[in-house]
Amino acid sequence: MTYLSSDDSQLLRQVAKMYRGTRCAEIGIGYASNLVELSGHFEEIIGTDIRLTDGFEILKNKGFSLVVSDRTTCFKDEIFDLVITNPPYLPSEGITDPTVDGGTGGFEIPSSFLREALRVLRPAGAILIVISSETSTLQFKRFCAENNLRVKEIVEKSLFFETLTAYELRKTEIERDLKD
Ligand SMILES: C[S@@+](CC[C@H](N)C(=O)[O-])C[C@H]1O[C@@H](n2cnc3c(N)ncnc32)[C@H](O)[C@@H]1O
Repeated sequence: MTYLSSDDSQLLRQVAKMYRGTRCAEIGIGYASNLVELSGHFEEIIGTDIRLTDGFEILKNKGFSLVVSDRTTCFKDEIFDLVITNPPYLPSEGITDPTVDGGTGGFEIPSSFLREALRVLRPAGAILIVISSETSTLQFKRFCAENNLRVKEIVEKSLFFETLTAYELRKTEIERDLKD
């Protein structure tokens, strides 16, 4: 099953549309509804997913490329100005549904997405991620601290069962120096 665009998807693209640059990637595109709206904001836009959406042919010539890949493992280091993701973030025992199951604390899968995003991100680039109040905030904050990331809360949306937050993450100089 492909993930249907929902409130979390809308929140991510609402924020992503504020960014411009040369190259942008989305990890876990679903129906690619976020990438459709980013067309023209970057010279090159690439989306990845572990499976292609049903009827993906209609997504041809829309101003972006699609790659079937585990996260961004098929790309070289430090090539994207912006990496966006609305990862599977719901706490789960194991991964039965890869569109929503986030594993332990709901952050097992998001953290694996973020590790890859950091690898392919240019030093001055930004990551946008949507996280739910259902996800372990403690694990998210610890990850950001351990990776010396600058965290900015961009927008929050309360739904009746959860609160969604879109964060911008950037490498700090400490993190950039550690990599040199
Ligand atoms: C919550 S859905 C978001 C879909 C879409 N980006 C949106 O915002 O509507 C998460 C997506 O991540 C994909 N996904 C799960 N594991 C992945 C992996 N290892 N690499 C790439 N994509 C993955 C799922 O197939 C699913 O399409």
